[in-house]
Amino acid sequence: MRAEIKSLATYVPPRLLTNADLEKLVDTSNEWIMQRTGIRERHIVDPGVATSDLATEAARQAIERAGLTPPDIDLIIVGTVTPDMLFPSTACLVQHKIGASRAWGFDLSAACSAFTYSLTVGSQMVTAGAVKNALVIGADVMSSIIDYTDRSTCVLFGDGAGAVVVAPASEDGFGILDFEHHVDGSGGPALCMPAGGSRMPASHDTVDQRLHYVKQEGATVFKFAVTKTGEMCERLLSRNNLTANDIDLFVSHQANRRIIMSAAERLGLPEEKVVINIESFGNTTAATIPLALNDAINSGRIKKGDRVLLASVGAGFTVGAVLMRWGI
Ligand code: UT7
Repeated sequence: MRAEIKSLATYVPPRLLTNADLEKLVDTSNEWIMQRTGIRERHIVDPGVATSDLATEAARQAIERAGLTPPDIDLIIVGTVTPDMLFPSTACLVQHKIGASRAWGFDLSAACSAFTYSLTVGSQMVTAGAVKNALVIGADVMSSIIDYTDRSTCVLFGDGAGAVVVAPASEDGFGILDFEHHVDGSGGPALCMPAGGSRMPASHDTVDQRLHYVKQEGATVFKFAVTKTGEMCERLLSRNNLTANDIDLFVSHQANRRIIMSAAERLGLPEEKVVINIESFGNTTAATIPLALNDAINSGRIKKGDRVLLASVGAGFTVGAVLMRWGI
C-alpha cells in the first residue's frame, strides 16, 4: 500500500517585511538581496504569535479540504525549529487547538529538511498500516530567532506554515513512491542557534552575546546544498529507473534562488519544471516546500499523474528528497 497527499493548505501571517524595510534596519540593499538570494519580501508575525498559531490555521484547512474532521486524524507531526516552547511539543498544542481528540503526535527537528523528513515518517506510518490519516505540518516563526542587526541572516528568513493530510493512496501507482535522506553531522557549526539548549542554557551572558539567534556560514551551506541536492536527487531517480525527463515538477526547499537553479541545472531540469516562490516568502524553513507546492497547485502547474520531486538541505546538515506521483 502507498500513501499519498490528500490535501494541502498553507498559512502566512499578513504582515510584510520588504527589502525596503530591511534597508532601514541594516546596511543592505534591495539590489544585493534580489541578486544574491531572489527574495523581495517575507511575511512575519506580530508579537505574541507563535508557530502553533500558524500551524493550526494551515491544519484546519488541510483537514477540511481532505473532507475530514479533526477527530479523523490519527497522527500529527510538526516539523519545526521554532516550537512555541521546548516542551510540550508544538504537535501537542496543535492537537488541542484543532480538537484532534484521537491523535498522537510529536515534533520533528530537521530544520529546512523538516517537511521532507516529516512527510517520509508520516507516509511510512500510513504505509505500514499503523495510522490511516496523518497530518504532516511544516511550520516556523523564524523571525523569533533572527538577529535583525545581522545583515548576513536577517534578509533571508520569513514565517509560515503548510499542512498536508497523508492517507492510503486511492489508486495504484500514485502517491509517495520513494525517498532518500541523509545526515552529515559534521556540518552542525555552519548553521545553528548556539544557546537555549542544555549545552548553553539561557543566561544574561548568552543573551548579551546574542547567542539565541541563527548563526550561519552562508558560503559553506551554499556549497553543500548545491552539491548534495544534485547527488541525492540523482541517486533517487536512478534507483527508480528515471531521468530528469520523467520529472514533471521539481519542488525544492527555498533558501536561495541560485541554489535551486544550480541544483536544477545539474540535474538537467529546465526552468519550466522548477517551482520558485522565494521572492514572496523568503526562507520559511519547514514551510517552504508546502508553500511552493501550494503555488504550483494554484497556478495550475501540477496535475494528477505528474511525477513530483521534492528536495531539501538544512541545518545538521540534514538532506532529504521525496519522489511522488500526484494523485489529487
Ligand atoms: O535553508 C537553510 C540553509 N541555508 C542556506 O541554504 C543559505 C545558503 N547560503 C546562501 O544563500 C548565501 O551564502 C547567502 C545569501 C547567505 C550569502 O550570499 P553569498 O553570495 O555567499 O555572499 P557572501 O556571504 O560570500 O558575502 C559576500 C559579500 C560580503 O562582503 P565582502 O566580504 O565581500 O565585502 C558580505 O559582507 O556580501 C556581503 N553581505 C551583504 N551585503 C549586503 C552579506 N550579507 C549582505 C547583505 N547586504 N544582506
